[in-house]
Amino acid sequence: MRMRLRLKTVFVLYFMVSLLGLIYALMQLDSSAGQRCDCRDHGMSKDQEISQLRGELQKLQDHIKTSELVKDSKKTDVPIIYVITPTYARLVQKAELTRLSHTFLHVPQLHWIMVEDAPQPTPLVTDFLAASGLTYTHLHKLTPKDRKLQEGDPSWLKPRGAEQRNEGLRWLREMGAAAKGKEAAALEDAVVYFADDDNTYSLQLFEEMRYTHRVSVWPVGLVGGMKFERPVVEDGKVVRFHTGWLPIRPFPMDMAGFAVSLRQVLANPKACFDGDAQMGFLESSFLQHLITVEELEPKADLCTKVLVWHTRTEKPKMKREDALQKQGLGSDPDVEV
Ligand code: UGA
Ligand code: MN
Repeated sequence: MRMRLRLKTVFVLYFMVSLLGLIYALMQLDSSAGQRCDCRDHGMSKDQEISQLRGELQKLQDHIKTSELVKDSKKTDVPIIYVITPTYARLVQKAELTRLSHTFLHVPQLHWIMVEDAPQPTPLVTDFLAASGLTYTHLHKLTPKDRKLQEGDPSWLKPRGAEQRNEGLRWLREMGAAAKGKEAAALEDAVVYFADDDNTYSLQLFEEMRYTHRVSVWPVGLVGGMKFERPVVEDGKVVRFHTGWLPIRPFPMDMAGFAVSLRQVLANPKACFDGDAQMGFLESSFLQHLITVEELEPKADLCTKVLVWHTRTEKPKMKREDALQKQGLGSDPDVEV
């Protein structure tokens, strides 16, 4: 413990000294207008050198910000974020969940509601959660066959994860109704976020959503065939959406682009995801029970920063595995992947 404390002190001191050094260097450059630095030695003009130093300073500041977030991951005096994640068995599942859990471990007061699309909890997810170090609730809800994508179907044909998110909402409402005293008071400020298992989330995103009054929104990167989609903000209010597809949807946003206060979820028991919703209308099917566009709370510097990316993982090719299996030489099935 003392060793850790000492290492931490050395680390903090190191950054303080580097930062002071940089600030000093920048001040020297700015104040010595008459004094020409002989930048020819390193083949750079003074302007280039200043801009390089500014870049370094920015990087250091970003680094310090992230270290602060990581350092604060044990804080308990902030609102709880309930993250609902639908997940289903496939070759990349454990890799996706590992990536996600390593992000969540850095987020204070995060409660992960993992909902498996399965008839019962699987050993892989059960063991994974037990070893994750996170606070979690493990649920399951199988998508009925007629609502599920079949092998070969295009991925947009039917909504994914709807039944599982609804199961997460059901659990929250049940828990909310049973909570008493201090526990109930903690739920007053809590927030609900729907995090798919394949996206990429920055730590800052969780701090943006943590103080959500009703529904908060922000941009999502790499989605809808665009570099990003986002709510457009004028005079602090959302007035429309930057999207390339069906802007007439009530809420033309991706699931990763909003969070809802638990209070709002509990106050509107009918709000849920419509598993039969037309393509692109899944998010709207839930949000239209809760809010109007004008009431949305824009986050991430008035929706100017991308803090979450709708990444999708390539399906691994199993050509050689299949060939080896035919010869009885496939990978050991007892090894969990
Ligand atoms: C986009 C949105 O980002 C999703 O939030 C939305 O649910 C989906 O479209 C839709 O329209 O239904 P996309 O990347 O196409 O997402 O969807 P996936 O990432 O394949 O699935 C979303 C979530 O549902 C994931 O967490 C995934 O693990 C889960 N899922 C997927 C299941 O639980 N069961 C399935 O059969 C497929
Ligand atoms: Mn996805």
